[in-house]
Amino acid sequence: MSELNKIALKILSNGKGILAADESNGTMTKRLEAVDVPSSKENRLSFREALLSSSGMKKFIGGVILYDETINQISSSKKTIPELILLSGAVPGIKVDTGAKVLAGSSEEKITEGLDGLRERLKEYYKLGARFTKWRGVYNISDKHPSKLSIQSNAHALARYSALVQECGMVPIVEPEVLMDGDHSAETCFNKTSEVIKKCFEELIIHKIDLSGIILKPNMILAGNKSDKEISSEEVAKLTLKCLKENVPTDVPGIAFLSGGQTEIQATENLNLINKHNDTNFIMTYSYGRALQQSALKFWSKDINDTQGTQKVFNHRAKMCTLAAQGKWSAELETK
Ligand code: 13P
Repeated sequence: MSELNKIALKILSNGKGILAADESNGTMTKRLEAVDVPSSKENRLSFREALLSSSGMKKFIGGVILYDETINQISSSKKTIPELILLSGAVPGIKVDTGAKVLAGSSEEKITEGLDGLRERLKEYYKLGARFTKWRGVYNISDKHPSKLSIQSNAHALARYSALVQECGMVPIVEPEVLMDGDHSAETCFNKTSEVIKKCFEELIIHKIDLSGIILKPNMILAGNKSDKEISSEEVAKLTLKCLKENVPTDVPGIAFLSGGQTEIQATENLNLINKHNDTNFIMTYSYGRALQQSALKFWSKDINDTQGTQKVFNHRAKMCTLAAQGKWSAELETK
């Protein structure tokens, strides 16, 4: 078993999942302003520290993705944030892309940047304690999109990123996110996501990536958020499993889904059914941002000094997600 494979399994095993707390300052400002809290450096740290020092971290979270600001911050207990994460038994990770910019040649699409100087930045993050990383490619669906250009160029960037990350002894999370915005059907999402993931693995193989030392972070197969066709969670689970079985090489140890704008309950229920029907060798768990933090953030925003109350809300959410990652969740457990 390679070192990278060991790290990946440590993050994903026993129903544990990933807390994606890597919102850029821009995104975090949107999240905080939506609940009427000013987005200061102190407030961003205070919310994140509440989650990272919760008891739910120990039981349910195998890895935390941080943003550059946070990995360099010191907690109120005078520990660095990676030290705080290690204390709970989880693995510290870091978002290393520098964001999605307009794709030259296809102005309605995006290409993720951040390869320049990446090798040097990775060494710094390793020294700070990171053992895994994240890079997100983003694709929108319309009749013309995602284009061949966007599928090809984002896959290429994800593969170059992954090669540098593995060279530095860390596990790359490969995140090709096909957005749920639009009125497209689940079938369209299935076809486009399949094409995107297939191309990513073609590039990862060309770039000699050790597939047993990566984590794939895909979207689930959903109908667009403006589609008038209802799709059941059973159907989401069936299509998601089919897409992954057809396009992900079996060497990949685990898949950690993004929530992508689903509600906390939808993201939990869908993950639960995926695991109930999981007939693959992949671990299927969560790497949620919004679907792990939304209710905790709302609670915290009412009284930012109520750390215990905030942790209680977070612990519950993380527990539900971990049950879903084992196919053991049910709606009744939400109210217990
Ligand atoms: P969401 O779960 O809120 O989609 O965030 C996950 C993530 O890391 C997106 O890059």
